[in-house]
Amino acid sequence: MSDNNIIQSWHRNASPWISAVREQQIESRKAVTDAAIIEAVTELAPASVLDVGCGEGWLARALAMRGMQVTGIDVVPELIAAAQQAGDGEFQVMAYDALMLHPFEQRFDAMVCNFSLIGEQSTAALIQAAPRLLRSGGKLIVQTLHPVTACGDEAYQDGWRQGSWQGFSGDLADQFTDPAPWYFRTLESWQALFADAGLTLIGIKEPSANKEPSANKEPSASKEPSASKEPRRSADSQPASVIFIATV
Ligand SMILES: C[S@@+](CC[C@H](N)C(=O)[O-])C[C@H]1O[C@@H](n2cnc3c(N)ncnc32)[C@H](O)[C@@H]1O
Repeated sequence: MSDNNIIQSWHRNASPWISAVREQQIESRKAVTDAAIIEAVTELAPASVLDVGCGEGWLARALAMRGMQVTGIDVVPELIAAAQQAGDGEFQVMAYDALMLHPFEQRFDAMVCNFSLIGEQSTAALIQAAPRLLRSGGKLIVQTLHPVTACGDEAYQDGWRQGSWQGFSGDLADQFTDPAPWYFRTLESWQALFADAGLTLIGIKEPSANKEPSANKEPSASKEPSASKEPRRSADSQPASVIFIATV
């Protein structure tokens, strides 16, 4: 299992993914995590945002609706084409490795990664690159599977895990193939990634269905998205995800 397998999988599954996101097929996103990430970014009030691994662009659109200037990057051309077609942002085909070359003229007030840091080396590269992509005081916001609830029966230690498209049903389920593996990290390991890059962790949020973010109460902003290993439904008492907020 490797970062390349992840990219190959997203190339193969772009089309059903766009449908899944736009048809709101992922329960945990609809119930909890979409509103949670919108709220986490919005409360920092950034003027400019880099949406890293933006997929078909739902989050970029939601943030643009709230007045932010958003740039989205993703390695899959089909996803970027769908994002460009839907509008409300600048979208470019780009792999995380390329961000280490600092390809933008501007520095961003915030970078957001919504269930898009799935790999081992590519995640480390992205977090290392963040301080030079952000302005001084800029924020990196990462929503990912909560290590404690995502660990399952396996040992609580870093390592590659098999992906799965489990949870999709009907015609859509038949269209997904070759699920992306993902690299499990413990909470301690996530914290070390930020520290090694010179970032300071200033907040951790644990969204769950019984902690409804206020963004849920705002007028609808988006069509929503999701990921192969995201929880389809989380028990109300369990965190659906974790959101890390780090600053330069
Ligand atoms: C689960 S999807 C999340 C998409 C989007 N953030 C959302 O909330 O719907 C993960 C995304 O990360 C992108 N991705 C994964 N590894 C990448 C890499 N190394 N470089 C660029 N994009 C990558 C995939 O193409 C995919 O669009």
